[in-house]
Amino acid sequence: MARYLITGGCGFIGGHLARALVQAGNRVTVLDDLSSGREGNLPPEADLERGCVTDGARLAAIAGQCDGIVHLAAIASVEAAAADPRRAEAVNLGGARNAVEAARTEKLPLVYASSAAVYGDAGPRPIAETHICAPLSAYGRHKLESESAVLTLGPRATIIRPFNVYGPRQHPASPYSGVIARFISACLAGETITVNGEGLQSRDFIYVGDIVRLFLAAMSRAPEAPLTVNGCTGQAISILKLTRAIGEACGTDLKLRHGPARPGDILHSRGNPRHAHETLGFQAEVRLGDGLADTIAWLREEDQ
Ligand SMILES: NC(=O)c1ccc[n+]([C@@H]2O[C@H](COP(=O)([O-])OP(=O)(O)OC[C@H]3O[C@@H](n4cnc5c(N)ncnc54)[C@H](O)[C@@H]3O)[C@@H](O)[C@H]2O)c1
Repeated sequence: MARYLITGGCGFIGGHLARALVQAGNRVTVLDDLSSGREGNLPPEADLERGCVTDGARLAAIAGQCDGIVHLAAIASVEAAAADPRRAEAVNLGGARNAVEAARTEKLPLVYASSAAVYGDAGPRPIAETHICAPLSAYGRHKLESESAVLTLGPRATIIRPFNVYGPRQHPASPYSGVIARFISACLAGETITVNGEGLQSRDFIYVGDIVRLFLAAMSRAPEAPLTVNGCTGQAISILKLTRAIGEACGTDLKLRHGPARPGDILHSRGNPRHAHETLGFQAEVRLGDGLADTIAWLREEDQ
C-alpha cells in the first residue's frame, strides 16, 4: 500500500483523485489551505493537513512520509490569479518550487498539474506538447516557469497540461469557476446565461473522471525520462454550441444574452491527445453529453 501526498486535494480535481486513490487501496495525505477547496470533497479515509504550500518546510515534512507527490494546489484560474498577482506568484510558482524541492530531497516522483494556458493563443489546430509556449497571462507564465523547475527532477518528473476540466463537484458559485458549472447552474435556476462576444470561441472540455485516469496513469508510470502530456480529448466545441447542449441536457428553454467579448480571450483551444496515448495509453472516454448529464445530476442534488 502506497501513500501519496496531494497538494490541493480538497479541490475539484484533487477530491476526485483522492477518492480514486483510496478506492484503489492507497493511502492519501492532503495538504490544502481550503482557500477554494472543501473538506467535504475528500473521502473519509484521507488525512487532511490544513496548511499552505508556500510553507516549504511543512510540505517537505509531509512528503517525507509519502511515496509520491501530486501537486495540484494553485490559485486555479487566469482571472483569480490576475486579481491578486503577488499572492498568485507566491502560491502558483513558489508552491510548485517547494513541491519540487520536497520531491528532490525525498527522491520522490512528482506529478505536476500545469495548464493548457502555457500555450497562449496557438490557433485552431490541435496543440501538441511540442508547440511553442507563449502564455498570455501571469497564471500561464507561472505554470510554465513551474514546469521548468519540475523538469530539473529528471525522470521522476511528470507534467500534465489539462485543458478545460468539468464535472461533478466543480462548484459554480465562484465567478472563476469553470464555464460548464456556471452555465448549468444558471440554466437550472432559470437565469440568463451571458456569453462573451459571439460565442464562437471553442474549447476542449475533458471530463474530470478522464483527467483523474490520466493522473493515475502518470503516477504509476516507470520513471525512465521526464514526461509532459496534454490532458485533453482532441475535440473542441464552441461556447454557443455548448450552451445549446446544456439547454437540451437540462430540458429547459435556455435564456441567452451576448455580452462584450473578453479582451485577450483566446479564440480556439484544442489539444492533441496523441502523446498521452502513446506514452501512457491514455484516451479520454466520456462523451460531452454523458459528462454534462452527470454534472447536471450532481448540481440538481446539491440544490436540494
Ligand atoms: N479545472 C481545470 O479546468 C484546470 C485546467 C488546467 C489546469 N488546472 C490545474 O489543476 C489544478 C487543480 O485545479 P482545480 O480545478 O481542482 O482547482 P480548485 O481550485 O478546485 O483546487 C485547488 C485546490 O488548491 C487549494 N489551494 C489553493 N491555494 C493553496 C495554498 N496556497 N496552499 C494549499 N492549498 C491551496 C485550494 O483550497 C483547492 O482545494 C490547479 O493547479 C489548476 O491550475 C485545472
